[in-house]
Amino acid sequence: MRSLSSLFKGQRLVKKKRFTRTKVYRKYSSGEHGKEDPKVNVDSEDFIKKVAPGFEDYKQFKNQFLSQAFTGKPVDIPQDLETRFYMARKNMELSGASAEDLDTMQKNFKKMTPKQQKIVDEVIKKRDQVFQDVMNKYKNVDFSPILSRFNMTAEQTFRSETEPVRVAVTGAAGQIGYALIFRIASGAMFGPKTPVILQLLEVPQALNSLKGVVMELDDCAFPLVRGIVATDSPEKAFEGADWALLVGAKPRGPGMERSDLLQQNAAIFSVQGKALNKVAKGKNTRVVVVGNPANTNTYITSANAPLIPPQNFAAMTRLDQNRGITQLAINLKCNINDIKNFVIWGNHSATQFPDISHARLKDKLLTDLVDKKWYTSTFIPGVQKRGAEVIKAKDGKSSAASAASALVDTVYDWYNGTKGRWASLAVYSSGEYGVTKGLFYSYPVIHNNNSWGIVEDLPIDQFAAEKMEQSHQELLQERDAVANLLK
Ligand code: NAD
Ligand code: LMR
Repeated sequence: MRSLSSLFKGQRLVKKKRFTRTKVYRKYSSGEHGKEDPKVNVDSEDFIKKVAPGFEDYKQFKNQFLSQAFTGKPVDIPQDLETRFYMARKNMELSGASAEDLDTMQKNFKKMTPKQQKIVDEVIKKRDQVFQDVMNKYKNVDFSPILSRFNMTAEQTFRSETEPVRVAVTGAAGQIGYALIFRIASGAMFGPKTPVILQLLEVPQALNSLKGVVMELDDCAFPLVRGIVATDSPEKAFEGADWALLVGAKPRGPGMERSDLLQQNAAIFSVQGKALNKVAKGKNTRVVVVGNPANTNTYITSANAPLIPPQNFAAMTRLDQNRGITQLAINLKCNINDIKNFVIWGNHSATQFPDISHARLKDKLLTDLVDKKWYTSTFIPGVQKRGAEVIKAKDGKSSAASAASALVDTVYDWYNGTKGRWASLAVYSSGEYGVTKGLFYSYPVIHNNNSWGIVEDLPIDQFAAEKMEQSHQELLQERDAVANLLK
C-alpha cells in the first residue's frame, strides 16, 4: 500500500482550486435561474488530481485513508491545514451538507488567524493520538463506523454559526402561525446552527394578539432568535426576506371547498406578491404558500413578483403527503421512514392524486402490498378529504399543528436538501408530465443546494394519468377564475 504521506509529498495543494458544481440530477432547476454557483461543491476529480493522485475517486481515497488507521500503525495523514480543510469539506459535501454550510465552513476557515490554525492543528494531532491509542487497545473492533461518525463530528466544528435567515410569516397570530413560529425559533426549520430574524405580519385587528405571541416568543429565550419584527405592513414584514411563508388567509368552514376562498383570498396574495417584489431579497427569496387555495394563490403571488424567479415559489402539499404516508404505514404495519417515493400530484384540493405507483416498502413495490380496493375506495378519497374531516372533528377549525409541521418539513428539505429522497411540492411547471406551463402543480421533487428538481420520466399508467389530468384541469379553471386580478 502506498503511504499517504508519499502521495502528498511535492503536491502543491489546492490554494487556487476551482470549485465546480457536480450535477447529480438530470434536470435541475437552480434557485438562481440556472446560474451555477462557482463556490459550491469541490469537484471530485479535481480533488483527486491535486490532492491524492493515483486514486480513482474520493471514495477509494477515503477508504484507504480509513483502512490505514485499522493497521494499528500511526495514522499517516498529511498535516497541512488546506488538505484537511478539503477533506472535511468533501466529507460534508458527501454527507449532503447544504451549499450554505459549505460556504460557511470555507469562510470560517479563511478567517482563522495563524494562532487559531495552530490550535486546530494541535487538537487534530491530539485527536489522532487518542484514536491511535484506543484502536491499539481494541484491536478486534471494527472502527469504520466509529471513524466516520468521528469525522462528522470534526466537520461540525467548522460549521459555526451562519448569518441569520430572515423569515417572514404572514398570519402570524392565527392558528397555524401560533404552531409554526415557535418551531422556527427553536431551529427546527433551518437547523440548530442557523439564527433567525422573525418578521411577522398580521392584519391591524390582530396586532394586539400578535403582540402577545411576541411576548411569549421573548419568554422562551430562544438562543437562535436574533430579532423580531411584528407589523401590519407587508413591506416592512418582507423587507430583505430570505424566506416568506404565506400562511395568512381566510380558512374554509364546514361544507366549503378550498376554491370557495378563491376570490376572498386572491386579493391578499396579489398585494403580498407586489410587496415581495419590491422589498424582499429578490432572486434569493423563497416563498411557500399555505393559505388556500394554495396552488392558485402561489400563481397569483408569483405573477405579481416578476423580480423573483417563479421557481422560488411553491405551494405546500407536504401535509397531504404526510397524511397519506401515515395511513400507508398503519395499513402496512411498518415505520413511516420505511416507505419511499409516495407522492402527491396536482392541486391541494379534493382532486389531488395521492399516488403509490412508484412507492416502495424497502425493496417491495407498494402496489404489490396494498389491497387495490382499499387503495382506490378508502385511501385516495381519505387523503383527498382529510382536511374536511379534520374541520368537522374540530368544530369548524382547520388543521393547524399538522399544517405547521408540514411547513417545517417543506422548508427544512428545501433549505437542507433531501439527499435523493422525494418530497411532494407544488412547483412551477415547465410542462413536465403534460401540465400547462406556468401552473403550480404538485410533483415529486428532490432538493439540493437550495433548489429543486422534478423527478422526471416516471411511468404513468392510465389510472394515474386520468387522476393527474383531473387535477390539472381544476388548476386551469382556478387560473382562469383569477385572470382579472393579474391584468
Ligand atoms: P386562522 O384564521 O387561524 O389564521 C389566519 C391568520 O391570518 C389570522 O390571524 C388573520 O388575521 C391573518 N390574516 C388574514 N389576512 C391577512 C393578511 N392580508 N395579511 C396578514 N395576515 C392575514 O387560519 P389558519 O388555520 O391559520 O389557516 C390559514 C390558512 O392556511 C387558511 O387559508 C387555511 O385554509 C390554510 N391551510 C392550508 C393548508 C395546506 O396544507 N396548504 C393546511 C391548513 C390550512
Ligand atoms: C387542510 O388540508 O387541512 C387545509 O387545506 C385546510 C382545509 O381547508 O382543508
